[in-house]
Amino acid sequence: MTRSIPHGGKLINRFDPRYNLAHIKHDIQLDHMALSDLELIATGAYSPLEGFMDQKNYESVVTDMRLVTGEPWSIPITLAVSREKASYLKIGDFAKLVMNGEIYGVIEITDLFYPDKEQEAIHVFRTKDLAHPGVAKLWSRPEVYVGGPVIMVKRLKKAKFGEYFLDPSHTREIFKKRKWKTIVGFQTRNPVHRAHEYIQKCALETVDGLFLNPLVGETKSDDIPSDIRMESYKVLLDKYYPQDRVLLAVFPAAMRYAGPREAIFHAIVRKNFGCTHFIVGRDHAGVGNYYGTYDAQKIFSYFSDEELGIQPLFFEHSFYCLKCEGMASAKTCPHNEEDRVILSGTKVRQMLKQDEKPPKEFSRPEVIEVLMNGMKSSQYRGVGIT
Ligand code: ADX
Repeated sequence: MTRSIPHGGKLINRFDPRYNLAHIKHDIQLDHMALSDLELIATGAYSPLEGFMDQKNYESVVTDMRLVTGEPWSIPITLAVSREKASYLKIGDFAKLVMNGEIYGVIEITDLFYPDKEQEAIHVFRTKDLAHPGVAKLWSRPEVYVGGPVIMVKRLKKAKFGEYFLDPSHTREIFKKRKWKTIVGFQTRNPVHRAHEYIQKCALETVDGLFLNPLVGETKSDDIPSDIRMESYKVLLDKYYPQDRVLLAVFPAAMRYAGPREAIFHAIVRKNFGCTHFIVGRDHAGVGNYYGTYDAQKIFSYFSDEELGIQPLFFEHSFYCLKCEGMASAKTCPHNEEDRVILSGTKVRQMLKQDEKPPKEFSRPEVIEVLMNGMKSSQYRGVGIT
């Protein structure tokens, strides 16, 4: 695969700062997830979506992982309002999309419906367990979904990561300018550890460029805050990566923790940013023990290569082997469990909380330093879901 066409054929643009709001009386309050989704729709990251899903698309996505037009799409993109709010709205109305008194966009309401959240949970998250952060988030939102095309009228403030917010049209231009034909996308909600670095660099041996695209939208509160992670990415790229072969930009979406379904979603969105390849390692976008180690890889066989339009690159669980004296996986290392340094993200978070240094075989010392300093001053002030 050497050319990346946006999902659905063209990059959607739903941004219009001059849109006339004068005639619009209704307003709908956005939560953090809906606000980030609005922006990702508007910039084309969610192409071919032009708005929040109507009932037909929502049900088709929940049960079949496809939009009604047939294109693969695995995660519902929804706008929820309370029963009371819905009683004032009707199909054909326009409503301003608002957060903290700022108007960010407009929706033309084409649908108002009660979702079957239990079915949504079972299909999308493969569980109804409220201890799953994605399921908890789903039930915490109000009960009526509003569907319809949107226009974004005001972009979010980029105080934090300014230059690292790049829209898909912009990343595509950069890839073109750099003459990269094949680009591998990498999703993460964690600092980049040696295992991540290993699989990224394995991929970089065969493609032209790496698009390091950490998710910085809403995450569960014990994930490492995005500003600390960004510092760790910068120091790692500076010290260990060839500058001309990597592009770092943030992915402002909320984390769903939907494992396999989210892996498909993550791949499609990175295709819209211009990637031709996408890395899926162990338990991609997983949480707890809800998904099997390679479920997020297996799900790709549900779609043909042509309809996805981005090539997944699968990697085995990788680790540092003390005998091999390097990174490896069961595919390349013959040694035993006790020779392998394997730490889970949860374990590392615990160590950092207790001011303990994770070993250099797990993470580059420069990254550890940034994380330890960051955690000391932040005390896990991450937003959102628990
Ligand atoms: S997440 O967004 O997918 O939850 P995470 O940082 O945990 O982020 O993982 C980023 C990517 O690296 C995913 O594709 C994941 O499967 C892969 N990955 C993480 N750890 C390992 C590992 N030890 N071996 C192989 N792949 C890994």
